[in-house]
Amino acid sequence: MTAPQTAEQPVYDPSDPSVMANPFPIYAKLREDDPVHWSPSLKSWIITRYTDVRDLLLSDHLSVNRLATFYQSLPPADAVLLKDIVHYLNLWLAFRDPPDHTRVRRILRHAFTASAIEHMRPNITEITDLLLDRLESGGRNEVDLIREFALQLPAFVIMDLLDVPRDMLDDFKEWSDDMAVFIGGARNSGDKYERAERGCRKMSSYFAQLIKERTENPKPGFLMDLISARDEGDKLSEDELIATCILVLFAGHETTTNLIGNATLLLLRHPDQLAKLKSDPALIDSAIEEVLRFDGPTNALVRVAAEDHDLHGRQIREGERVFVMVNSANRDPRIFKDPDRFDITRQQNRHLTFGQGIHLCLGAKLAREEGRIAVERLFARFQNLALDPSEPPEWLDAMVPRGTRHLPVLLNG
Ligand code: HEM
Repeated sequence: MTAPQTAEQPVYDPSDPSVMANPFPIYAKLREDDPVHWSPSLKSWIITRYTDVRDLLLSDHLSVNRLATFYQSLPPADAVLLKDIVHYLNLWLAFRDPPDHTRVRRILRHAFTASAIEHMRPNITEITDLLLDRLESGGRNEVDLIREFALQLPAFVIMDLLDVPRDMLDDFKEWSDDMAVFIGGARNSGDKYERAERGCRKMSSYFAQLIKERTENPKPGFLMDLISARDEGDKLSEDELIATCILVLFAGHETTTNLIGNATLLLLRHPDQLAKLKSDPALIDSAIEEVLRFDGPTNALVRVAAEDHDLHGRQIREGERVFVMVNSANRDPRIFKDPDRFDITRQQNRHLTFGQGIHLCLGAKLAREEGRIAVERLFARFQNLALDPSEPPEWLDAMVPRGTRHLPVLLNG
């Protein structure tokens, strides 16, 4: 720790329920008074201004490889238990620095093409309508929109993309929830390492088998594109392929759930903006961009300082953890006019919600497509959709994702 806290500095406590419900006032204070903030409780730096967040993500000062230090600090029995999961996570593009990152990303470009995503459009529409039909025919007025719509839509889309049969949803959910207790750093789960190991073992052996089958019986689609993706003769190893399938599942699932949930909540809380969207449906693209900016699914990104460096007079030391606060950057008045106004007609919306620099989200086009179709069709189907006044939404207790655990709504007002 290199910057002792003084009495005047703002205190940032992300686990305070009022901060969880609305973190923006403390972000505004940090941006003004202490833009490079040392949090003693998080033992991390908190960076809140737009240009600092953007420039750090573009610089070599920070690394995404935060697993090595964690793994080295584990007691031997846990290290043995977590060997496989750490092996696969180390192969995730999201946790690799150049030159490994550069090599894998170059190969992946050949699978994440605009046309591959374009092909998904009819599936997204079909899945959305299927889920809305179920909601409508269920005969209930009160539903949790996260559980019954926003969670399932991206899950089915990613499963279709990866060629996983939709009836595997429950298995996949169990395995990914088991892995997520490790990746998300759950605080209260005593057996989290055992669960993570089990989830990873089941998930990786499923994908190993699927990749084998698809290689023997080629069929056009994203998974085949991944298997055959090559760049200058180089291709992904089998373990890299398995790791990439798991990464796509994680990267594309909860994030998109939160986009759909946050979009619904924001539009219902801003009836004037919802009315504007209904009277001019062509505003849907700028409405999704405004949701991504105003209260998007990326609260923060985590990095480790790769070298000592100075920022606004603060010394950040190699190995220290740094949170770059994307949702704070997206409300920086130095960049956005009237940043605390939710305005679906906003132009020049250069939010940082899909990241910046070499790790820029590969699935942004797919996510935008899902968000657009989900919001358009949800509000068209349930014209009187309303928030349930008896149950306020419950926000996730997490630093990185931003979304609600539940979103209780009344389908017909
Ligand atoms: C609203 C939804 C989404 C949001 C907000 C989002 C956001 C992000 C962000 C911020 C990053 C950069 C992470 C970092 O720098 O540490 C990222 C990376 C990534 N995203 Fe997304 N994402 C979304 C949906 C998706 C989808 C649907 C997919 C895939 C189908 C996807 C695949 C990826 C991959 C593979 C990476 C790693 C890229 C790399 O490390 O080079 N994302 N995403």
